[in-house]
Amino acid sequence: MSFIVAIDGTSGSGKTITARMVAERLGWMYLDTGATYRAVTYWVLKQGKDPENEKEVTQLLEGLDLDVKNTEEGQRTYVNGEDETNKLRTDEIDRWVTPVSKMTTVREWLVRVQRKIVDGKNAVVEGRDIGTVVFPNADLKIYMDAKLEVRAERRKKQKGEAKDIEEVKRDLLRRDYHDSTRKDSPLKRSLNALSLDTTSLSIEEQVERAVSEIKHLNESTSSI
Ligand code: DC
Repeated sequence: MSFIVAIDGTSGSGKTITARMVAERLGWMYLDTGATYRAVTYWVLKQGKDPENEKEVTQLLEGLDLDVKNTEEGQRTYVNGEDETNKLRTDEIDRWVTPVSKMTTVREWLVRVQRKIVDGKNAVVEGRDIGTVVFPNADLKIYMDAKLEVRAERRKKQKGEAKDIEEVKRDLLRRDYHDSTRKDSPLKRSLNALSLDTTSLSIEEQVERAVSEIKHLNESTSSI
């Protein structure tokens, strides 16, 4: 028996850090699925393929092996056996992950990979379509969001960039728009998801809310 927590939400809402810390508190696995979309994009660019050409990208998937490991420094993402984690958060990947993550072939392939990684484990999985598509029967679904200003501040701090805050806001709005309007598995709140507005919550408070909900749902699990 495994217990799956599905966390979805907008960019900068605090999903990744919350998923990681909740998983650490419980001794469970966590999976940042955004990193798997970034890893495919990284591979497409590395192979010199066109990230807007679905046929070229689909052909590449055949020879691609993706894996993740949880370590003390967080999730490490492996592309054909190489740890490429540090190359996945560049501006170039930010730019091209949007068209790649729109492709149905990529989404279907990654959903299979993500389910396989989590198979049989207790896990906290975060992304955009986890409660709706990847694990529609998740034991707990959480939808996270926060005011644009707050998300932009967090993103700016996280990336340690000298980028203008207005530019960070525009980038977040562009990604929100693409994520929630794409044809295949758009970002949307599951009807049965717990809504968590993190605008004025600290990371510890977000983690506490999630953990107490999990404990409430799963009082008899001895691992908690
Ligand atoms: O969470 P992130 O910024 O690392 O995600 C990178 C991109 O991947 C984001 O633009 C949306 C996409 N993504 C997705 O389509 N589905 C997911 N489950 C996770 C991420």
